[in-house]
Amino acid sequence: MSDTQTNKTWGGRFTETTDAFVAAFTASVEFDRRMYRQDIAGSIAHARMLARVGVLSESDCAAIIQGLEAIRSEIERGEFVWSVELEDVHMNIEARLTERIGIAGKRLHTGRSRNDQVATDLRLYLRDAIDAILAEIRRLLGGLTGLAMQEAGTIMPGFTHLQVAQPVTFGHHLLAWFEMLKRDYERLVDCRKRVNIMPLGAAALAGTSYPLDRDYTAQLLEFDAPSANSLDAVSDRDFAIEFTAAAAILMTHFSRMAEELVLWSSAQFAFIDLPDRFCTGSSIMPQKKNPDVPELVRGKTGRVNGHLVALLTLMKSQPLAYNKDNQEDKEPLFDAVDTVLGCVRAFGDLIPAIYPRRDNLLQAARRGFATATDLADYLVRKSIPFRDAHEIVGKVVRLGVETGRDLAEMTLAELQGFSPLIQNDVFTVLSLEGSVAARNVLGGTAPDRVREAAISAQTWLANLG
Ligand code: ARG
Repeated sequence: MSDTQTNKTWGGRFTETTDAFVAAFTASVEFDRRMYRQDIAGSIAHARMLARVGVLSESDCAAIIQGLEAIRSEIERGEFVWSVELEDVHMNIEARLTERIGIAGKRLHTGRSRNDQVATDLRLYLRDAIDAILAEIRRLLGGLTGLAMQEAGTIMPGFTHLQVAQPVTFGHHLLAWFEMLKRDYERLVDCRKRVNIMPLGAAALAGTSYPLDRDYTAQLLEFDAPSANSLDAVSDRDFAIEFTAAAAILMTHFSRMAEELVLWSSAQFAFIDLPDRFCTGSSIMPQKKNPDVPELVRGKTGRVNGHLVALLTLMKSQPLAYNKDNQEDKEPLFDAVDTVLGCVRAFGDLIPAIYPRRDNLLQAARRGFATATDLADYLVRKSIPFRDAHEIVGKVVRLGVETGRDLAEMTLAELQGFSPLIQNDVFTVLSLEGSVAARNVLGGTAPDRVREAAISAQTWLANLG
């Protein structure tokens, strides 16, 4: 047996060096190096704790911390040389530490394994990512409520089946988006609680024989608690699945909003203008102003949904505890983070800047008999049963279709031909303003209700701190 070391970190029991292709195939450094800050923070906390419990001398601990901080600056300055032979971010940093400080560097890995290390890094990374996403969602929601307040009385057609249904206000529509995104926000806040649990101390899978103070490490890293079971700690990736599920729902909401922005900014709808800075032109058709940003957001939904399925499938049927499969968790998770962050930023800039074309919104509500239900309700108030009222109004609408007029454009005599109970007061009911003002129920589209809802949305936001 040869006594030459085949791999700096784990080559002791090997007699043959790793096949070059296998080394590249199994390496993760190309993508996990983005966790270098979390890896270093985790190592510093681990070293501090080892020194506190007397497993590491104070001088070794100080050398390790200083060395790791220097490595962090090397990485940030772009001077660090990443090596595929060293497999991953953890071994790259540890090898460099030993290169810089000598033997003390080799003591850092006491009572630790890459299995609890990587799970810790990933949780720290995701915690930071969630915080960044939450901040961007708050910014977007702030813009949304401002615009909703401003457009609380702007009338537009409300749709079902993409057909004009009843008039609503533009502010009300925007606050529907607010509710969708508020749920996403709360889902992420909730997900963060299960992200913020510390695996360190689980070591490879069974825990460790060193007298670690896991509560202390958790406190240093601002984790809520150390994990309760070492086997679960190194193998669990629920937190990544949960985040990606929340991200997929968020992206689904974004895709719906994007779809509306694309439709509304088209010449056919002409409900809104998007600022030029969010659009692009066509290389061949000079008249074009394409809504690229919402289209891309809509398109990016697909990859986040795909990452959710990838992570679920990755974890399916995995036996306890750590398996190398888990290395495949990072790329989907990182891409989900990048995609969501990019999309929230884009919408945070775009949405407050959309310009509603109030006249067109109003005209569109006028076409399409948006107040037909109001006329039926009016007849009900004159004690006609709703089903009969529905039938009567259906006939009025048919006359409107045939003569190309809205209900409000008919004469009183014409309307009375359908029901003698119709009086002059019907025209208030048939007006779009009357229609929206009448929907004064909690959660309804009446401008006063919308203003109230915008204020309570703003209060909710302000209380998030
Ligand atoms: N690069 C590995 C990963 O991402 C780190 C953990 C390796 N552990 C091991 N036992 N091979 O999962």
